[in-house]
Amino acid sequence: MTTEKRRILTGITTSGTPHLGNYVGAIRPAIAASRQAGNESFYFLADYHALIKCDDAARVQRSTLEIAASWLACGLDPDTVFFYRQSDIPEIPELTWLLTCVTAKGLLNRAHAYKAAVDQNTQSGEDPDAGINAGLYMYPVLMAADILIFGAHEVPVGRDQIQHIEMARDIAQRFNHVYADDLARRGTRFTLPEAKIEENVATLPGLDGRKMSKSYNNTIPLWLPAKELEKAILGIVTDSRAPGEAKDPDGSNIFAIYQAFASAEETAAMRQAFADGIGWGEAKKKLFERIDAELAAPRARYEALIAKPEAIEEQLLAGANKARKRGEPFVEALRWAAGIRRLTDRAAALAAHASAGASATAEMHAAKAALPEFKRYRETDGKFYFKLEAGDGSVLLQSRAFDSPKDAGRLTADLMESADDASRVSALLLQSVAAGDSPDLAPIVAALAQLKAEKLAKEREKKG
Ligand code: TRP
Repeated sequence: MTTEKRRILTGITTSGTPHLGNYVGAIRPAIAASRQAGNESFYFLADYHALIKCDDAARVQRSTLEIAASWLACGLDPDTVFFYRQSDIPEIPELTWLLTCVTAKGLLNRAHAYKAAVDQNTQSGEDPDAGINAGLYMYPVLMAADILIFGAHEVPVGRDQIQHIEMARDIAQRFNHVYADDLARRGTRFTLPEAKIEENVATLPGLDGRKMSKSYNNTIPLWLPAKELEKAILGIVTDSRAPGEAKDPDGSNIFAIYQAFASAEETAAMRQAFADGIGWGEAKKKLFERIDAELAAPRARYEALIAKPEAIEEQLLAGANKARKRGEPFVEALRWAAGIRRLTDRAAALAAHASAGASATAEMHAAKAALPEFKRYRETDGKFYFKLEAGDGSVLLQSRAFDSPKDAGRLTADLMESADDASRVSALLLQSVAAGDSPDLAPIVAALAQLKAEKLAKEREKKG
C-alpha cells in the first residue's frame, strides 16, 4: 500500500493586486506549508471565480499575471506542488455541472454572500435579485468542484469561506450517496474536505485600522517600490500621542503589522520602544525597514518575472498538464458513475443491472466477455510480456520484456489494486512499458477500475 499524502488545496481569485495582507495571511503560510514533507499542495488561480465579481477583462488578465508572479517570487516551487490556473482544467466546469445536478437550490439560497446581496436589495426597496448574477449564486458549486476534483483533505481559508467548505462537503456527500453503487463499481468516491483556519496567522490592519482588504480600499500593495512603500506606511493612521509619550502596542496598527514581519526578539524590543515613548514617525520608519528587508529580494524576482509573461504562461500550462493527469481520470469515472457513458459500454450497464437483482441472461454473458482483460504471454525471445486490452480488443497497454513471469505478474496485480489512484498507476506504467513509451493514462485507469470493480463484485457474490 502507498501511504496517501495529505492534500492541501487553495484558490486565489484573480480580481485584484496582491497586498501585504494577502502576503501575510495567505502567500507566506501556504508556501511554508508546501515545503512540509508528507503534504501535497495544490494552489491555483481562480480566474473563473473572478468573473463573478469583475467584468473588466484586462483586469482579470493582469491580476492573473500579478498573482502568479507573486507566488513564484515568494518561493513557491512549481515542481514540488501543483500550481495551475482554474480555466486550464476543463474538467472543473464539467464537474461543476455534475455537482450542480445534485445540489439543492435551497442550499445555495442560504449562502452568506448571496443572502447578503439579497438583504441589501431588500433593505433599499429593490427587487431581491436586482443586480445579482447567477454566477454569484453558483459560486459555491464551482468552488466545490475546485476542491473535490483533486480530493483535497484540507482547505486553508479565512473564516468568511468556512461555509463554502461545508457546502462542498454537503454536495460531495450527496453525490456519494446518490451514485453510491456506480461509484463503488469504479472504486471511487469523493473525499470530504475540511476547512483549516490558521489560528496563528495574522490578519493585518489596513491604512485606516480596519482589516486590510480590497473592499475597504485600505490596502498597501505588496510590490510597491521601496520609496512608495515607505510613503504608504507613513500614511497609516495613528493616534495623536507625541514622541516621548508611552504608547500601547496592543492597540496599535503599526505594532500589529510590525509583529507580522518581525522575530520574537524584534517584537519584544519594539514593545519596549513603545513603552519608552518612541515617536510615530520613528516607529513607522522601523516598520518600513523591517518589511523592506523581507520583501526586497522577492520584489526583485517579481519584477523580473512580470517582465516575462511568456515564461509564467508556460509555467501555468505545465502545471495544468500535471494537474489534469490527476483530475481527468477521476472526472471520467464520475461522469461514468452518473451515466454519462459510451453506448458501447454494455458490460458495465448489464453487470450493474444484474447486481441490482435482475437475472443473468445470455446477453449478460456476452457482455461480460466485453470486459477489459490482462493477457500474459511468452514470446519467442524467451521473455515475458503482458498487455491490457479493452473490451473491444484494442490494446491499451503493451508491456516491455520481463525476464521473469513473476515481475510481470506483480505489476499487473499492482496496477489493478491501484485503479483508484491515477498517480500510482502512472508510476507503475513507467515500470511497465519500454523506455520512451507513454500510453494514454485515462482509458487505462478506466479499464483497471472496471476490472477491480468486477473482482470486488465477484468476491461479494461469493461471500453471499
Ligand atoms: N472563494 C475563495 C476566496 O474568495 C477563492 C477560491 C475559489 C477558493 N476556489 C477555491 C479557495 C477553492 C479555496 C478552495 O478567497
